[in-house]
This record gives sequence, structure tokens and C-alpha cells, in this order.
Amino acid sequence: MPNASTISESPIVVYTLNKGKGLIDSFALLWRKADRSTLDFIRRALPLKGGYTRVSIPRLYALYSLTLRCIENGIAGAYVECGVWKGGSSALVNALLQSHEPSDPRPVWLFDSFEGLPQPSEKDGAGVQDRYYSGILAADQSYVRRAHERAGSSLENVRVIPGWFNETLPQHREAIGTIAILHIDVDLYDSVYCVLSELYDQVTPGGAIVIDDYGSEKRWPGCRRAVHEFFEERELDPEIIRRSDRSGAFFHKPMSS
Ligand SMILES: C[S@@+](CC[C@H](N)C(=O)[O-])C[C@H]1O[C@@H](n2cnc3c(N)ncnc32)[C@H](O)[C@@H]1O
Repeated sequence: MPNASTISESPIVVYTLNKGKGLIDSFALLWRKADRSTLDFIRRALPLKGGYTRVSIPRLYALYSLTLRCIENGIAGAYVECGVWKGGSSALVNALLQSHEPSDPRPVWLFDSFEGLPQPSEKDGAGVQDRYYSGILAADQSYVRRAHERAGSSLENVRVIPGWFNETLPQHREAIGTIAILHIDVDLYDSVYCVLSELYDQVTPGGAIVIDDYGSEKRWPGCRRAVHEFFEERELDPEIIRRSDRSGAFFHKPMSS
């Protein structure tokens, strides 16, 4: 059951905090890097903040820059997002893909239960088990279409797959094929571990894996734990992990793995 601290998840609070923080972070980004590309990013990202994405401006900017890098370096494969919520981060990426690959934008695959988070497990820690409950962050799938409309992108290259990752990812793995960018924004240990186990092998070497909650050690300790366990199993060096802000992280798949 929700307790008092879950008030911070009420839609109006989330909207207001997201929108205000989005504005402040956009000014800070422009202050550091006032060029055409940054302005273009802010023009696309700000309308999605608040209502359509919970991802911070620095993390959205990292995602945007990684997508541009894949396009410019010809890194093959789809954009796959696990953890879509109302579709904001995927709409931003798809708008960029459609403007740079107008005749044949690469496929975009979007996976979410749309019923919110599953039950946190022991590996998420007692704090998360107390604060979060199954069903929190549920969002009607129609928001995804609205987010893409707001970003000015169409859904022609997009497949939205509702359901739990442990069922949907094995079912669609083959159809997805190679992946250029794997965006994991799923908060919980089991969810992060499931996405990495199911899809990592399909990421093109040099492609990017983006993990939104890696740095949120207090809020989402299970996320970092899942990443580190996966790195150990695959003998990957944690030094390759880069940070986009206090919470967000990404790494490029090594050429040799
Ligand atoms: C933080 S939200 C995603 C935010 C989104 N990327 C944005 O732009 O704001 C996390 C999402 O992960 C989904 N999720 C987490 N674990 C899942 C699982 N095991 N199967 C399906 N969906 C899951 C939830 O339904 C929720 O919509």
C-alpha cells in the first residue's frame, strides 16, 4: 500500500517538479554550451518535460547526443526502449531519427507493461519495498501517441509492445535484430537484469546502452546492483560506465564482447 512518501508520485507534483526542473536545467545547459545543436535539443525536449517524460534534461541530452553519434557514425540497429511510461524520451529520439533518416528511419521498439512497475523484490532493498508498490507509474498507452505528436514525429517506424519484459522480450528478440541504442529506464533490479540478459547480445559493438537509474543508489539501489552483477558475469570492466548526471549512466558496448 502507498504510504505518505508516495505523495511525491502524485501526478500534479510530478508534473510541476519535472517542468520547473526542466526549465532550470535547460538554462544551465545553454549556459555551458550555447550552440545550434543544444538549442535544437532544448526546442525538442522542453515540450515533453512534465507531462510526457520523467527523464532529466542532462539525461535526455546524453540520449540525444548518443543517438546523433549513432546516426553520424553509421552504427546499425534499432532504438529499443524498455520503460516507456508516457513516451517522452522515445518521442525525442524518434523525432531526431526521423529528421536525420527521413526516407528510412531505423526501427523504434517500445516495451512497457503500461500497468506500472511490478512488485519490487528483496534485491531492491527494504526502502524501495516500503515506498513503491506494484502498479505505480501506470500510464495509458495513448500517451505514447500524444508524446510523438507533440515531438512532431510519426509512429510509422515504431512498434509499441505492451506486457511484462520477461514475456515480451523473448517473444520479440528475433524480430528486433541488431540494436544501436538500448535505453533501460525501468527502476528495479529484476527489470534491469531481465533487459540486459535478454537484449545485450544484440547490441552492435560500439552501440550504446543507457541506464537511467544507475546512479540513484538511495532511490533505486537494485538498478546499480543488477548492472554490476551483469558486468561481473560478462567480465565487463565497470570503468567503461560514464555518467550523464547523478542518476543517469551509459556505456558503449566494447568491440570485443
Ligand atoms: C521511470 S518509468 C519510464 C520513464 C520514461 N522513459 C520517460 O520518458 O519518462 C519506468 C517504466 O518501466 C516500466 N516497467 C518497469 N519494470 C517493468 C517490467 N518488468 N515489465 C514491463 N514494464 C516495466 C513501468 O511500467 C514504467 O512505465
